[in-house]
Amino acid sequence: MLGSSFEKREYWKNDSARSIVRIERLFRDGYQGDRLAKTSGDRCDAPKPTGIKCEHVTRLSTWRSFGLAEISAVVLMVSVRTQSRNLTARGYDRVSRVWDRFFVPATAQARDHMIRLARLKPGERVLDIGTGTGASAILAARKVGKSGKVLGIDLSKRMLAKAREKASRLGLVNVEFRLMDSTSLRLPEGSFDAIITTFGTPEGLYSGRLVLREWLRVLAAGGRLCLCEGADDDKLGRIIERVFDKYKVAKPTSSLAARRTLQALISKERKRRHQVHFSNARRVTRELRDAGFSGVKASTRVFAIFLPSARVLRDLLIASDISDEYMAMPPENQRGFKQEFISALRPFESSRGLLWGDKVVFVRASKGRA
Ligand SMILES: C[S@@+](CC[C@H](N)C(=O)[O-])C[C@H]1O[C@@H](n2cnc3c(N)ncnc32)[C@H](O)[C@@H]1O
Repeated sequence: MLGSSFEKREYWKNDSARSIVRIERLFRDGYQGDRLAKTSGDRCDAPKPTGIKCEHVTRLSTWRSFGLAEISAVVLMVSVRTQSRNLTARGYDRVSRVWDRFFVPATAQARDHMIRLARLKPGERVLDIGTGTGASAILAARKVGKSGKVLGIDLSKRMLAKAREKASRLGLVNVEFRLMDSTSLRLPEGSFDAIITTFGTPEGLYSGRLVLREWLRVLAAGGRLCLCEGADDDKLGRIIERVFDKYKVAKPTSSLAARRTLQALISKERKRRHQVHFSNARRVTRELRDAGFSGVKASTRVFAIFLPSARVLRDLLIASDISDEYMAMPPENQRGFKQEFISALRPFESSRGLLWGDKVVFVRASKGRA
């Protein structure tokens, strides 16, 4: 239990209020403490939970009965979210060096189609979410011209460094890149005519409803959201997971165990929270409508995405997502994993390379009138 000295603190502000919602979710079945009371005026934009008056909660009035378990839960959830963000950033930092060599050319067709769909006009203000090395932001900057402005945001510092490097090499002065989480935008209301994203929808832990509300908030009236994301029938991903599970170590080191625990927590929380199904045309249509977007149109199109070979994909994964797990494997497991990866993915290889995905979901939606 925490002492009464905490009672007078203005402790719970915006983000913390959202944490209250998380606590409520965490303790939905077991929490027996007193309820939180409405005590002062800051607004909580989290969805109203059952049993807790959340609209204007900024601090706990019955702090005494709010035990260590609940405090730990808040700290844990805030920390899981931060760590989930770090995990994403670190993964992309690691592949930033080779991103433009493999991923950008592989997705050129889909990217061009998304840019066409966005119908960007000179003078418009555009936000590119999950901009990576800025491939789409740069195309957008050319469309909106000198009188327009493009902001590309991303969690990965190294991806952004590449983006800045390219923009300055091309002499583009109407595009800027900033480190920012697309799930909590530090941007003024109504400040963009278009939000675009090519395969850059948020990863990790977030609340879908809050994200869509944020995106809608920063769009100007009549502004539009245009995105593309890989469709969710991920046969290749399932095969890779099966091979990987076979070779990963059963007894991890403490740091690897901590990482596994974190990943398990993230996927558990992802299931509990509302996520946006960007990879599913039917579901994302409904979710965007529910969030207040209008004129929502989503379709799945065949746009083959090829990587040069299974070997390239394997080495990219080893360098990023599965790096820690791979490094922990004994040499014989590493060898086995590398060989089996290549043979398991052989059916996806052709003279054009490795077919990494063949369906892409495209979405266009507006804020208010289209
Ligand atoms: C698959 S890459 C796509 C990059 C780029 N749009 C492209 O087409 O090359 C996804 C990008 O989204 C970024 N990302 C993931 N979650 C994010 C978040 N919550 N906020 C900002 N960026 C995020 C990653 O760091 C990564 O650079």
